[in-house]
Amino acid sequence: MLIDTYGRVATDLRVSLTDRCNLRCTYCMPEEGLRWLAKPDLLSDEEIVRLVRVAVTRLGITEVRFTGGEPLLRPGLVSVVERCAALEPRPRTSLTTNGIGLKRTAAALKAAGLDRVNVSLDTLRPDVFRTLTRRDRHQDVLDGLAAAHEAGLTPVKVNSVLMPGLNDDEAPDLLAWAVEHGYELRFIEQMPLDAQHGWKRDGMITAVDILASLRTRFTLTAEDEDARGSAPAERWSVDGGPHRVGVIASVTRPFCRACDRTRLTADGQVRTCLFAREETDLRGALRSGASDEEIAGIWKTAMWGKKAGSGLDDPAFLQPDRPMSAIGG
Ligand code: 5AD
Ligand code: SF4
Repeated sequence: MLIDTYGRVATDLRVSLTDRCNLRCTYCMPEEGLRWLAKPDLLSDEEIVRLVRVAVTRLGITEVRFTGGEPLLRPGLVSVVERCAALEPRPRTSLTTNGIGLKRTAAALKAAGLDRVNVSLDTLRPDVFRTLTRRDRHQDVLDGLAAAHEAGLTPVKVNSVLMPGLNDDEAPDLLAWAVEHGYELRFIEQMPLDAQHGWKRDGMITAVDILASLRTRFTLTAEDEDARGSAPAERWSVDGGPHRVGVIASVTRPFCRACDRTRLTADGQVRTCLFAREETDLRGALRSGASDEEIAGIWKTAMWGKKAGSGLDDPAFLQPDRPMSAIGG
């Protein structure tokens, strides 16, 4: 098992398949100038599948989420999903994507064994989308969402980040839209993970702001704490249910104590936390002929050193060097 000194057990693996993306969300990437990982540094499809196999068969991982950058940009995605979903014991699998290109691939992903998708969409207004992501692809995302729903990659979850002065007035509209389409909406507080290091705590839209805004139009009833488990989202039923809305208050109500995650970057580094400042190299071990058992051992040692929390509230907090797109969301 991947256990740490605080007694937490990691069962949820996030695998970043690429650091590249076809959007440039302001809370994630700069307009230009971000350096990509070099091709030889990226894990190959075979290397990814091998590491996931080690995680699932030797380390107790039961949930595998593919992220990026934008994972749909990885040519071998469907085959990687297929080989990971065929592992015994079969892990649950999901994909965190911006939805662009999902229209084309949703059915193939479902057939390959993918269980679910999380699609990022912050606004219903095409002009605001263009400002937020610096690309004119709003309709592609809506089409991707519809295709995912149709293909049965359900429940389709939608992640939204609210940015002051841009889309902070849209929470009720987004929820009404999600209810109408049968998507499960979750708001994520903006975290200091942008490549430009431009995040400021004051001015950010908090969970309290989001709930107050939603309550101007909906009746929200909190689900009990037990239902939350290790899920980072706190959930509320909407107007008596069955529809629900979630808020991931990573900054104002961190969930580190219940964290069950381990992460693998596209260049084969284990990260114990989004905000970790250390990484452990698995790619080097892999490429110098380490056995599965040795790789499992390195991974266990890395997780044993997992810190108690993100350190966001510590005045000495230092943002990780890598942006979200290189870590995996
Ligand atoms: N803060 C909060 N959420 C972020 N995401 C990307 N960068 C940030 C950030 N700085 C979101 C994306 C996606 C998920 C993986 O994380 O919108 O939904
Ligand atoms: Fe791309 Fe996701 Fe970053 Fe937006 S948040 S630029 S969709 S990786």
